[in-house]
Amino acid sequence: MAAQVSPVAAVAKSDHGVGLWAQLRRATPWWAQPLAIVAVLGAFTGYSIWTAFFGPGPNHISEHANYLSPFFSPLIWKTGPVTPALWVLWAPLGFRATCYYYRKSYYRAFFWDPPACAVGELRRRGYRGESRLPMVLNNLHRFFWYPAAIVVILLWVDGFASFDDGGHLYLGLGTLILLVNAVLLSGYSLGCHAFRHAAGGGLDCYSCSQAGKARFRLWRWVTVFNGHHATWAWVSMFSVVIAEVYIRLLQAGMPDPHILVK
Ligand code: FES
Repeated sequence: MAAQVSPVAAVAKSDHGVGLWAQLRRATPWWAQPLAIVAVLGAFTGYSIWTAFFGPGPNHISEHANYLSPFFSPLIWKTGPVTPALWVLWAPLGFRATCYYYRKSYYRAFFWDPPACAVGELRRRGYRGESRLPMVLNNLHRFFWYPAAIVVILLWVDGFASFDDGGHLYLGLGTLILLVNAVLLSGYSLGCHAFRHAAGGGLDCYSCSQAGKARFRLWRWVTVFNGHHATWAWVSMFSVVIAEVYIRLLQAGMPDPHILVK
């Protein structure tokens, strides 16, 4: 006969399994997370501005052989009075800056509004939420989804185009980096809360709505990505920077490990 375990012992036992992570989180001071977010988002913003406006190369474009940086794709104009990144970056950066998850992160980290769960407001001013400028602009998030999704599709095209080296099959580390970046950005965009709502929200009854079944299937599929939206948000941000830095390094003379199939 199986030994009886008291409810208290069962809780203690299960606590032991997840205990390490929980204990670590409890032992970390509340300000550590906002500080880390300020550092990472600040570095990302600083790097984006540097590469778009001050990076080396003609018109600051980050490209090498068959690779094009995600910061400059699609390359609409190569020459002109302004950096070509400007024609592209407004869409993914606007999408990211207005993302519900990032909003939570930077409201806490940058504006201390409030800085963390169970920590009171530090600001004296009244809370106005997102009802006034400039924060009201965050409501544009759902509209940013469409241009940002087009950019992600074009990044897939760039990834596949990088297999081609003058009619020969080119398998480079850069190709892999560009494709992984496209996968992670797709996971981030597909898990968007606004897209999830567009897919299956606002309906009281799927079976009585037009295309209800298809919308329900899409909503369920999007929900898989949505459940880990924060993770997709961070890993896709890092992958964009890794792809960009890698191409800058190739531009500077670093070799790209590859196999060329003739
Ligand atoms: S909520 Fe994060 S991308 Fe839409």
